[in-house]
Amino acid sequence: MSITKASRGRIRRALPRKLAGGWERAVFTAPERPGEARDERVLIGPGPLAEEPTETAEKALQTALTELLDAAEAAAEDGLVKQTIVLDERRRLLFDARHGHIKLKTLDPETSLKVMGGKERLFRPDTSAPFLRAIGIMNADGTISTRHARKYKQVSHLAELCRPTWERVGKRRPLSPEAPLRILDLACGNAYLSFVIAEALRLAGVPLRLHGVDVREDLITRARERTAQIGLEGVSFARATIADAYGEALAEDALAGRPDIVLALHACDTATDEALELAIRYGAPAILCVPCCQQELSTQLAATDVPAPIPALHSHGLLRGAYADALTDSIRCELLAACGYQVDVVEFVGSEHTAKNMLIRAHRRHRGAVDPSRWRLAPVVDACARLGVDPSLLRRLQRPSL
Ligand SMILES: C[S@@+](CC[C@H](N)C(=O)[O-])C[C@H]1O[C@@H](n2cnc3c(N)ncnc32)[C@H](O)[C@@H]1O
Repeated sequence: MSITKASRGRIRRALPRKLAGGWERAVFTAPERPGEARDERVLIGPGPLAEEPTETAEKALQTALTELLDAAEAAAEDGLVKQTIVLDERRRLLFDARHGHIKLKTLDPETSLKVMGGKERLFRPDTSAPFLRAIGIMNADGTISTRHARKYKQVSHLAELCRPTWERVGKRRPLSPEAPLRILDLACGNAYLSFVIAEALRLAGVPLRLHGVDVREDLITRARERTAQIGLEGVSFARATIADAYGEALAEDALAGRPDIVLALHACDTATDEALELAIRYGAPAILCVPCCQQELSTQLAATDVPAPIPALHSHGLLRGAYADALTDSIRCELLAACGYQVDVVEFVGSEHTAKNMLIRAHRRHRGAVDPSRWRLAPVVDACARLGVDPSLLRRLQRPSL
């Protein structure tokens, strides 16, 4: 697609004046087409120019400007005609290279509402832009594509689901910068939920220390990059197994104390049980757990001689899988209750997003030291024997210590 000479002239004349104070980045995109991936090119700018710039800074700005004008034209030739220059978090220049008219847009409340799809959201584009960009909801040019609208709604929902838990902890002990809310994310992966909670707490002004661990080095590196991108304070990540996590997380530079909330989101298979055992043994006041795929009980049910409550539950693979999933998570809830937790189970995200969409929220009833001799495991042991299963979490809680 070629741009007209008039449009080119308009842009080349207007931009140097409008960009005299510097800019953050330029974003060139093609007009959005439903169902198609967004074609986008980003060119990082020199940043805002100081009030009294040095000669070198002025020169660098001129060089960057020449690069920008050339890149804008090249992008337009490739069909990326919708062009945005982000001046800072609140101001951006918008133009369409086909006609070259340039508009300054300021992120006022009205524009923010438009970006939010006409609805008030917890994470607003004017207050949470770095977060929304880091988790892939907001585009580099500050827009939110229609294909991200659902995810956008989802992150507010996730924060609201977790809010009662942190509010409850806040009622148990006063939170302050010296005694912040401490969250440990076990098997954090890309740490999506950690970022949602950390941003919601930042907006609520709650002091936070959050530490995430995962065995995958690449995900930890990425999570650290995102933390820096969002500018979150008190958030750290380390490569570690769940089993190592407490020793490591309790170190002075990570949580500086025992976690108030343990997160275990989609920790694979029995890694969820590993996380639950640790949280229970250390008396975590709250646990937020979204179980993942579960193989263990399905295999046990296929092999057991104990008759099923209804034979089809054992003999048909699909039914056995669904039964094993429900049984695994029900037993987890029973065990949490047996170890002194009040438990509730809520839908995490709609089942259209993932089949693993159940959030187990558990709050410890007592504040005292953990005393395994008071755990009431016997009824669960009996029930499991009657059903012909021996789940990982039960085995773990039956051993004398970690
Ligand atoms: C399905 S991902 C979920 C990640 C993240 N919590 C989320 O929901 O996006 C499971 C993660 O568990 C990690 N993992 C599995 N077993 C682990 C263990 N024993 N210790 C630490 N991380 C573990 C994997 O590396 C992977 O990143």
